[in-house]
Amino acid sequence: MSKRDLVSLHDWSAAELAALLDQAADLKAKQRAGIPHALLPGETLALIFEKPSLRTRVTFEAGMTQLGGHAIYLAPQDIRLGERETVADGARNLSRWVDGIVARTFRHQVVVELAEHASVPVINGLTDLLHPCQILVDLFTIREKRGDLTGCRVAFIGDGNNVANAWCTGAAKTGVDLTIACPRGYEPDPSILHQAREDAKGTGACIQVLHDPAAAARGADVIYTDVWTSMGQEEERAKRVKVFQPFQVNRALVSLARPDVLVMHCLPAHRGEEITDEVIDGPHSVVFDEAENKLHVQKALLVALLGRQGGPR
Ligand code: CP
Ligand code: NVA
Repeated sequence: MSKRDLVSLHDWSAAELAALLDQAADLKAKQRAGIPHALLPGETLALIFEKPSLRTRVTFEAGMTQLGGHAIYLAPQDIRLGERETVADGARNLSRWVDGIVARTFRHQVVVELAEHASVPVINGLTDLLHPCQILVDLFTIREKRGDLTGCRVAFIGDGNNVANAWCTGAAKTGVDLTIACPRGYEPDPSILHQAREDAKGTGACIQVLHDPAAAARGADVIYTDVWTSMGQEEERAKRVKVFQPFQVNRALVSLARPDVLVMHCLPAHRGEEITDEVIDGPHSVVFDEAENKLHVQKALLVALLGRQGGPR
């Protein structure tokens, strides 16, 4: 059986994504009920992180424990992929010892190369281009709260960054209407947007990019935001705080959306910048349910990719 990766949601079909979200719901229910679900006994996951993480790291590590396996965290200074040895050689080595790899990198190409050269599944745990695990979690959370994704209207307010890019693909695959409102010059990656619009032909999803946050928020089912300064862009922070000010998710913006709007954020939040305390702590916010769901959805992903359904690889 050939191995499967998660580098981009583009590589997964709508049916596969739906099955994954179903599996996540099942695992969440089992965990809540205290039903053991050690589906990956004796399996080991390597976590390669070039950037900081709270949620992704802890949920993959805790998830492996709950599935009966084990995770090894490799900090940037531990392996220095691409410096101490090539990315390909790192992938070949790890493949001899572990059953799967999660990688959080600056350059997206590093995750692409890891996937190419590893004989075990590789999961993109965030790159400068994409954050697919996050969007799986977000889709799961919306489905859990709303019952259905098709036709749901999501307004992404802020930077056309890795999370926004992955949202374009995730929305296109699942029939979610996505409107991104960003400052001029901070639009999502054009090739990802193009690819998402092609993917959207299969589901009828409408993927728009505009520059007016109010227009995006009006009538939205979900208002979503992320930091204005992503990891690796710290030197641009002062400029970004000024440029993005009109894109803050505050009470006035939320009041334009549906009365039962969900407010979401992948976290970490820079309170007082992209979102006010009042909104993130307010009645519409589901950010901590969303954070919890990283555990359940990533466990489902691990089971889907690492589960030895056909015997040893
Ligand atoms: N949302 C998310 O990926 O959080 P971390 O950066 O803490 O992993
Ligand atoms: N866009 C953010 C997401 C963090 C989870 C970053 O890349 O820093």
